[in-house]
Amino acid sequence: MTIRPILTVPNPVLKQVSKPVAEVTDETRALMDDMLETMYDAPGIGLAAIQIGVPLNVIVMDLVKDKDESEDNDRGDEKTPEPNPKFFVNPEILEAVDELRPYEEGCLSIPEVYDEIERPNRVKIRYLDYHGKEVVEWAEGIYAVCIQHEMDHLKGVLFIDYLSRLKRSRAVKKVQKFEKSKDVA
Ligand code: NI
Repeated sequence: MTIRPILTVPNPVLKQVSKPVAEVTDETRALMDDMLETMYDAPGIGLAAIQIGVPLNVIVMDLVKDKDESEDNDRGDEKTPEPNPKFFVNPEILEAVDELRPYEEGCLSIPEVYDEIERPNRVKIRYLDYHGKEVVEWAEGIYAVCIQHEMDHLKGVLFIDYLSRLKRSRAVKKVQKFEKSKDVA
């Protein structure tokens, strides 16, 4: 497994539309392994392949980390929850409820920027898992938020695209400044 560099805005590759995977092979699994390693290292709870420059409909996710941070997480002496990685190849949304839920989103490609986005609270999804097996299930809460955010990446859409033009350009400037400060350090 290799940690790959994560592309950040305004890299035009992030606006690219990803393509379906013809078949889940060892090569696909190697990509997913790298993506998971990269995501854990960042750290983040979701990552789409395009964020490491691979324009394929592949997503990795692990929501355990987020739970750990939002709940009573002490100074590291607390038991770390077991990782619970999820892999999505060619995900599709089959159904979405009308009820919208606001959630403060962030993105590894837009570091240091967070804003509230409204999305359907429950979505029915279909995808192939790590072994190429088809799964159909309902996602809700943070899972629904995350899968919709990641699936947007596959269409070249970022969460800041839902914000006003002013907020969006501010976000991009903030990221550029942040990335520059990292280069110097
Ligand atoms: Ni993202």
